[in-house]
Formats: sequence, structure tokens, C-alpha cells
Amino acid sequence: MDDITRASRDEIAALQLLRLQATLQRTYARVPHYRQKFAAHGVHPDDLKSLDDLARFPFTSKEDLRQTYPYGMFAEPLENIVRLHASSGTTGKPTVVAYTQNDIDTWAGIMARSIAAAGGTKQDIIHITHGYGLFTGGLGVHYGAERLGCTVVPISGGQTERQVQLIRDFGATMIVGTPSYVLNIVDAFERQGLDPAKSSLQRGIFGAEPWGESMRAELESRLGIVAMDLYGLSELIGPGVAVECIESRDGPTIWEDHFFPEIIDPETGKVLPDGSPGELVFTSLTKEALPIVRYRTRDLTRLLPPTARSFRRIGKITGRSDDMLIIRGVNLFPSQIEELILKTPKLSPHYQLEVTRKGHMDDLTVRVELKPEFSAATAAVREAAGGELRHHIKALIGINTKIEVMEVGGVERSAGKAKRIVDSRS
Ligand code: DLL
Repeated sequence: MDDITRASRDEIAALQLLRLQATLQRTYARVPHYRQKFAAHGVHPDDLKSLDDLARFPFTSKEDLRQTYPYGMFAEPLENIVRLHASSGTTGKPTVVAYTQNDIDTWAGIMARSIAAAGGTKQDIIHITHGYGLFTGGLGVHYGAERLGCTVVPISGGQTERQVQLIRDFGATMIVGTPSYVLNIVDAFERQGLDPAKSSLQRGIFGAEPWGESMRAELESRLGIVAMDLYGLSELIGPGVAVECIESRDGPTIWEDHFFPEIIDPETGKVLPDGSPGELVFTSLTKEALPIVRYRTRDLTRLLPPTARSFRRIGKITGRSDDMLIIRGVNLFPSQIEELILKTPKLSPHYQLEVTRKGHMDDLTVRVELKPEFSAATAAVREAAGGELRHHIKALIGINTKIEVMEVGGVERSAGKAKRIVDSRS
């Protein structure tokens, strides 16, 4: 098979079955935690005769990684592990993930394939703003970009004004980062009196946090680029699990030769048919150090049929099940508010939501800013913009909110993933 990404579905399924069997055998033989869980579930790796049999195996969650912190889920001795990454661990212990040299090579290959699918070539000068360090974003994209032969600018996040200068001096053609941080760079261009749409940048690859179609339109028009979506998570490998192909830009194509996707009902755990909304679950197919079986991502989306490649795609991540807010009985994701903010002409796309509780009732405050060009606006203009947003939220989502329209820069900025929710409930 020359190019598995364009192979027939039968060829792909045959490869997936072989690799799934190997992954299950590997976890069973090498990780006591999996062996115990499989036994408690009454299953054995030999039971996997078809892809559908995977549904009989137990899920893995962040909790499993926490219980076995730091090294308990590794399938290789430490002497064979060449790299660790870790999640920030905002709640409780961080989760640690590990790579053998083969894993690092596989990852570089997958990320190189991702950048190429997003239109990158060795001619590109690629400006990587993801954090370098324990976060998988910076180093993950970096190794892939080098593998592809791009000229890599490993700037990482922060020093936002300087990022503008380096993009201009080095003539970057591609930018990689979280949508929220790259918007900060766009603002910095404008603060310096420069038109970001006139920069050398042609394409951008964005991910690590949810972002909707309105955010895509905002980034594309202000930066004069074509924007692609890159999905991934540390527990699976990092960035590069799925990416949008430049010719279709219709949701990230999953690299199904390395990651086997399922969609489940988050309540019952039942596997749902392709196309149904639910929680994304992944089993790694080629990982050595940290093979993972039926990992519950908490990301809510759908599996879509193949288009630009022979692999299936995911729809936009509408949110994480742990980010769902329930405000006075209405379920809500930050991405829904984001869409409405971006449709309010005088408001900028920086925002944060705060949930507070009075008695038994939750209240939602939406903090937004006027666009810089309206910074001298009167209180009445500010109030009108806030009123417009409040009205849209009431009409389309059905809840009453308090809107705080802040000064430009008033909403907290981040050099990586934006913090969209502040939970002030005790
Ligand atoms: O965010 C890996 C990554 C780095 C992906 C750079 C893309 C670019 P974690 O820190 O483990 O890993 O966070 C993973 O971030 O479960 C999603 O909730 C969210 N996420 C990642 N990519 C996207 C995306 C990296 N394109 C978690 N759209 C995932 C929406 C995303 N959410």
C-alpha cells in the first residue's frame, strides 16, 4: 500500500484490526492496570476478532492515569522512554505521558503529514506559538515541521509584540497556535499600526481549544490567511491526531492508521453509529510507551465520512462534557456564546464567562470588550453593544445573562489555551 490515507476502507479496516489486536495484547501483557480491568470486565485480548468487538472492552479515563500516577500505565521500562510530557492538571494531579524513540519518530511523521495536509511544504517558514515544555503543542508541531523540511521558528507563546516583528523580519508563511493566542498577535499588529492581512502569512493551523466557524472567519479575514483545524490530546500523542485538509476544510481528518475512533453516548457508554453526536473515544494503534485503550476524551462531536482522504473526519468539537454549564436548567457550551459575540459587530472576540451562585440558582456573567476602534465610545454605545449580545443570548440560547463590556485588554489574555470559564460557585 503506497498511501494508506488513500487506501480502500477494507484495506484500512484490515490494518486497524491487526494493530488493535497488537495494542490489546501489548497492554494486557505489560500493564497490570489493564490486565486487572480486562479481567474484571470478563474480556481477554483474544476476544477481539472484529473491529466491533472493541465495544466489549472497558474504557480508560483520566482517572485511570491519575490512579497510576506517574508511571503506572507505561508499557515500557523507563530506560526505553526518551521523553515525558504532562497536562497542566488544573484539577488534582497532572497526567504524565511517555514516548519511546519510535513514538517520537511516529509522532514526527504524523505531524509532518498533518502540516502537509494543511497545505505546508518545505518552502514554508513556520512560526510556532504553542508553548514548548511539558505541553505537547510546541515540541509536537516542531518535530513534524522539521521532518517536513519547513524552516521552523520555535518562538513559543508570550512576548506578543516581538512576535509581530519576527513574523515580519523572518517572512513567516504559516502560523501555528491556539486561535485565542493568535488573535492576541493580530491585535498586536494593529496596535503597531500594521495591517495583519498584509503580512507574509498565508496559512494557519489552529487547535488545542474549541473554536467555531465564526472564529475561523475572524482569523481568516483579519490575518488574510486560510485557517485549518488541528486536533489532538496528550493522552493519545499530542497534536496530530486529526487535521483539516486544505482542499476540503470540512473538519479534521483522523489519522485512522494510528488512532481508532468511536463515538459513544456519554451517559450509557453505548457505541453510536457514525454521524450521531456524542463523546469521542480513541484507542491508539501504534503507541509503544503508552498504548491507550478506549480513552474517553470528554470531547463532544460526530464522526463524519471521508472526503479529502480515505479516513473519517470529526466535526467541530462543540465542547467538552466537563465544560458544559447548566444555567437555570439550560445546557450551554462556551462555544455557543462565542458564536454570538462574534456576530455582535462592536465586540471583539476576547471573552470569559463567570458562573456564580445565589441560593440554588446559577448566574452567568459574560465579560467582553469593545473592539479597539470603539475604545473611545460613550457609555451609551458600550451599553448598547452589551444589550445586543444579551438579547441574542436570550433569544437563541434562552437564558438571562449579565454582560460586562470591559476596556480593551480588560479580559484576561493567555499565551496558550484561553481560560473561558471562571467558576465562582463555592
Ligand atoms: O491540546 C494537544 C494539541 C496541541 C492539539 C496543539 C492541537 C494543537 P491537551 O493539552 O492534552 O493536548 O488537551 C487536549 O484540548 O481533549 C480538546 O478538549 C482540546 N482540543 C485540542 N485540539 C482541539 C481542537 C492538546 N482542534 C484537549 N478543537 C482535547 C477543539 C481541541 N478542542
